[in-house]
Amino acid sequence: MHSLFILSVMLSTAVAAPFGLVAKRPLDDRDWTRSKRDGCPAYLTEGQYEFPHYMTQVSKSEPNLAFGPQYNGIFTPNDVSTVFSFDIPESRANDTCTLQFIFPRQEQLKTSSYAYEGTGTFVFTGYNPGNCPGPQTTYNNQPGNGPFPQFPPIHMEPGYAYTIDVGPCSVGAGTCVAGMTSTNDTYFSYFQDKDSCPIGIYTSYS
Ligand SMILES: *[C@@H]1O[C@H](CO)[C@@H](O)[C@H](O)[C@H]1NC(C)=O
Ligand SMILES: *[C@@H]1O[C@H](CO)[C@@H](O)[C@H](O)[C@H]1NC(C)=O
Repeated sequence: MHSLFILSVMLSTAVAAPFGLVAKRPLDDRDWTRSKRDGCPAYLTEGQYEFPHYMTQVSKSEPNLAFGPQYNGIFTPNDVSTVFSFDIPESRANDTCTLQFIFPRQEQLKTSSYAYEGTGTFVFTGYNPGNCPGPQTTYNNQPGNGPFPQFPPIHMEPGYAYTIDVGPCSVGAGTCVAGMTSTNDTYFSYFQDKDSCPIGIYTSYS
């Protein structure tokens, strides 16, 4: 009874808060179930997802440096973090938004490559909906944290898709939903890409 209560509290917290690991699924070499093209470990349903509208980095050791628009996610231990922002159209107000990180193994990707070295501990922090990062964003002036407590670190390694959050799109509909991903133990750099096989962070609608 007691543990069931704790479990249900944990589950409802995971669904209600904007960041925190909800689920993890292994990626096969081919995602047959939703396959339109051959040979990708994961697919995004056309018209039912958002690519990050804006990505940039911030650096704890260079807190006033504005990196400007970036196409790579870059992470170094306790220093460089990646900020990402999604535009959620007003028309999606009644949809459910799923934030996921698609992380295939290198040999499952056709063209893109990435560098990953370390233990794979990552922390997602959600900014206040409507506080959008931009060319001026630095570590020191990044958008304020949202109303939710920071989630415990998650472990991300190649070969999986990580569902980081599931929640109502109404939170950010008509504006942006943005956040920062940091690590304390991993060097990771990848090119955010959907044109060959998807890799990186996406918001999907359902
Ligand atoms: C969302 O649902 C409400 C209540 O049913 C409706 O009034 C509103 O028009 C819907 N919004 C969108 C964007 O579909
Ligand atoms: C990184 O953070 C995790 C979780 O807080 C902690 O368990 C781990 O020891 C940290 N690693 C390093 C290298 O500081």
